[in-house]
Amino acid sequence: MGDAALFNHKHIIALRDLSADDIRLLLTTAENLKEINSRDIKKVPTLRGKTIINLFYEASTRTRTSFEIAAKRLSADTVNISPSTSSSTKGETLSDTALNLLAMKPDIIVMRHNISGSHYFLAKRLSCSIINAGDGAHEHPSQALLDMLTMKERFGRLDGLKVAIVGDVSHSRVARSNIQGLTKMGSHLFLAGPPTMMPPGVERLGNVTVCKDMREAVDGADVVMMLRIQLERQGKSLLPTLKEYSRYFGLNREILKLAKPDAMVMHPGPINRGVELASDVADGDQSHILNQVENGVAVRMAMLYHVCGGGTVDAG
Ligand code: NCD
Repeated sequence: MGDAALFNHKHIIALRDLSADDIRLLLTTAENLKEINSRDIKKVPTLRGKTIINLFYEASTRTRTSFEIAAKRLSADTVNISPSTSSSTKGETLSDTALNLLAMKPDIIVMRHNISGSHYFLAKRLSCSIINAGDGAHEHPSQALLDMLTMKERFGRLDGLKVAIVGDVSHSRVARSNIQGLTKMGSHLFLAGPPTMMPPGVERLGNVTVCKDMREAVDGADVVMMLRIQLERQGKSLLPTLKEYSRYFGLNREILKLAKPDAMVMHPGPINRGVELASDVADGDQSHILNQVENGVAVRMAMLYHVCGGGTVDAG
C-alpha cells in the first residue's frame, strides 16, 4: 500500500470529482482488503481509534450495513443515526444536526440524503471527512465503485467493455455515478429506458449512447445493468403500467441472449422481481448481484481507509 498517499481527497462525494488514477487506486485497495472478509477473524487494526457516523436520511439495507461492517472490519468505532430516531423529526436542520455531530469529533460522516448536493453543503461547513452514500438522483459513488470492482474481477479490465444500463436513468444516482466512473475507465455505455426516464443531454456526461430500444443497448453487451424505477423520486407517474414497462424495459432470458454469451447481469438492489428483472435471470448463472453486495464491503473499506489518509494496511 505504498502508493496510498496518492489519494488526495478528504471527501468522496462524486466520481465526477475523482480521476481515473483515484478510481484505480480505490479498486486496487479494495482488491487487497477483500481477503480480510474471508478470514476467520475478520478484523484488522487499521482504523483503530477513528469514529465514523453513518447518517442515513433515506432507506438503505445494503449500503448502510456494508459501510458499518467495513468500518468495523478496520476496527473503527461506528454509530448509526436514522431520521426516525434523530432530531430531524423535531425540526432540526441538516446543518445543525451535522454541527452537533461534529462537536463529538467524528473522523468521517457517511451520509445518505434525498437532496442532491447536500454533501457539498456539509463538506464546506464541517472539518471531518464526508462520504456520499447516495444523494437524491445525483451520485452514489460507493455503488459505482463496487460495480466497477465486480466487472474488473470478471473481465480483468474495464477498458473497452460495452455496458448497457437500462431503466429509470433520470432518477438513478447509480447510473450517474457509473456513467462518470466507467467513462473515465474507458468503457462504452449504452443507455435505454422510457423517454420520460431519460435525462436530456445525458450523452454529454461521458462515453454514452442513448438507445430507443433496449435490445440495441443489450446487443453484444459485456454487462447488462438493470435499474429499479425510482417511484419515490418521480413527482408524477411517468409510465402507463408496470406491466407495460416490464414488456419493453424488463430483462428476461430471451433479451439476455442478445448480449455476449458470458455477459454479466447486474443490479444495485433492491430488485423489483418481475418488473425490471425476471426472477430466473436474477437468480441465474449470469447474475452477479450477490458478488456486487460482497464487493460492497471491500470497496467501502477502501473508501474509509483512503479518506482517513491511507498509510500502511496492517493485515496482522
Ligand atoms: C440504490 C440506491 O439507493 O440508489 N440502491 C443501493 O444503494 N443499493 C438503487 C435503488 O434504490 O434502486
